[in-house]
Order: sequence, then C-alpha cells, then structure tokens
Amino acid sequence: MTASAAVPPSKPTAILVGFMGAGKSTVGRLLADRLGVDFIDTDHEIVRRSGRSIPDIFVTDGAERFRELEAEVVADVLASHNGVVALGGGAVTTEAVRDALDAHRVFYLRVSADSGFARVRESDRPLLASDDPAERYRALLAEREETYASVAGVEIDAHGDPDAVADLIILALADELTAGRTS
Ligand code: S3P
Repeated sequence: MTASAAVPPSKPTAILVGFMGAGKSTVGRLLADRLGVDFIDTDHEIVRRSGRSIPDIFVTDGAERFRELEAEVVADVLASHNGVVALGGGAVTTEAVRDALDAHRVFYLRVSADSGFARVRESDRPLLASDDPAERYRALLAEREETYASVAGVEIDAHGDPDAVADLIILALADELTAGRTS
C-alpha cells in the first residue's frame, strides 16, 4: 500500500439539501461555526470558479449547462471538503449527484411552500422568473419533494430560526454518530 492510499478520503460532516428558501446557506454557515469546521455552498463555488452569476449562466448557457457545471462542482466538493456543504436546490435533479450522495450524511431541510417562498420572493432566482413566481415555487417544490427525501437520511423541520434549525441538525448528527449508522 502506498502512503497516499493509506490516507482516508475526506468526507463532509454534513450535507444540506432542500428547496430554495429552506435556509441551507444560513443554517449551514451557523452549523459549521458551531462544529468548528469549514462551510461551502456549491452555488458560491460555481460563481467563484466561473466568475459569473448564476442567473447569467442560466440565461446565457441554459439550465442543462448549469447542471453540468453544478455536478462537477458537487463531485469535487464531496471528494475534498470535510466540513458542512450546502447544495443548490436543484442539484439533486442530476442523477450523478444523487448517486454521489449515497455515501454521505445528508439532511433535508424541509419548508412549506408559503414559508420558503416568503424567503426568496425578492431574490433573482432564475427558476422563479415567471408571471406567477409563487405558483412556480409551489409546483417545483411539489415536483422535487420526493427526491429530497430520497437522498437524505434525516429530514429537518426548517421553519424555525436558523439557530434552532442548526440545533436540530446537531442533535441528529449526534444521534447518528452515537448509533454508528454512518461513518
Ligand atoms: C436552483 C436553486 C438555487 C441555484 C439555482 C437553481 C434550483 O440554489 O442553484 O438558482 O434549481 O432550485 P438555492 O437553493 O441555494 O437557492
């Protein structure tokens, strides 16, 4: 065995998935602070690497190209980051991302359509550019809910304030680590 083969691969402490407005970035940052680990948000990483905004990539290159870039970033982050990771809300719509999440500790931050939409209604999310963004939000969330649940080991009620949501994740993490269900 070579020296590098003996080094265990790094693995994120926790990965947060959920729809836009679930609070993945805010809660993820708080959670990372509390655990004393780094935080990475895959949307920010896409912007950092490409030097472009997410709406620009969607509008100029299309959703499919955005998903390709996103899948590359997610694969790199899962392989190299050992802190807390927040995935963009649509990352789980890519099969390769779902497969890659299999080996990880994934938390689904669940919010209702009303609460989630209230948090993002003033934002420039390209997928909500519509005559009726509230209805678009509701329909997309309904379409994806099952997928979020299927990739996550634990569902977290994300309606509370971000500190309280981070507490729920810490409790769930402690449970998992104590039970030794995941490493
Ligand atoms: C998207 C969610 C966004 C961002 C992009 C597409 C989606 O991330 O990746 O606008 O398809 O749900 P957030 O969940 O961080 O808003």
